[in-house]
Amino acid sequence: DIKGFVFDLDGVITDTSVFHSQAWRQVAEKVGVQWDDQLADALKGISRMDSLNLILKHGHRENDFSAAEKQALATEKNTHYLELVDQMTPANLLPGIKDFLTSLQTAGYQLSLASASKNSARVLAKLGLSAVFTKAVDPTTLTHGKPDPEIFRRGAELLNLDPAQCIGVEDAAAGIQSINGAGETSIGIGDPQVLAAADINFKDTAELTLANIKARMA
Ligand code: G6P
Ligand code: MG
Repeated sequence: DIKGFVFDLDGVITDTSVFHSQAWRQVAEKVGVQWDDQLADALKGISRMDSLNLILKHGHRENDFSAAEKQALATEKNTHYLELVDQMTPANLLPGIKDFLTSLQTAGYQLSLASASKNSARVLAKLGLSAVFTKAVDPTTLTHGKPDPEIFRRGAELLNLDPAQCIGVEDAAAGIQSINGAGETSIGIGDPQVLAAADINFKDTAELTLANIKARMA
C-alpha cells in the first residue's frame, strides 16, 4: 500500500524549471553554446555543475574552461536564477498543486522532497510550503545525483517507509530513472515521450489528483 509521496520540486511543484532554463541559456549563449529544447530537457533534475558540464559538452567546449572559470559561470547562473526566485510568490505554484498537497495531507500520506537544488529551502519559503515539506533530502550529502536512485531512496528513508510504499513525482527523465531505480512507483509530469519510463504519465499538474492516480494504479 502507498503511504508516502516523494516530490521533485522544480517543474513539478513550481515553474522554476523555466527560470533554471532562462538562467542557463544566458550562460550558454555567452560562451557560444547554442541552446535548444533537447538541451533544456537534458538539464532537468541535473545538479548545477553537472548542468554546466553538459552545456559545455553540447557545444564541444568541455576542455576550454578551468575549474575556476567554470565555478564563476555556475555562480553567475545562480545569481541570475536567485533574482528570478526572489520575485516568486505562491502564485508560482503549478496548477492544482496546492489542492493536491492538501488532499494528500488530509488523506494521511507522508510527504518528502527529493530535489537536487541547493536553493530548495528558499523556493519553498517563497511558495509558502516550508511547513508542508519539513522532510527534505539535503542534496549536498549525496554521493550521486539523479539519475542515480540515491536521492529518491533517501526520500523514502526520511519517511521511514519502504520505497515500495512510496510514489515519486518528477518532470525529468533523469528523475524518473532515479525513482524507478529506487523501487518506487513513478509519476511523470510532462511530455510522455520524454518520460516514457514512468509508470504513470500526466501531461500537466492539473491532472495530478488522488482519484486520477488511483484510477491509473488499478
Ligand atoms: C533541480 C533542477 C535543475 C537544477 C538542480 C540544481 O534538479 O531541475 O535544473 O540544476 O536542481 O539546482 P541549484 O538550485 O542547486 O542550482
Ligand atoms: Mg524537476
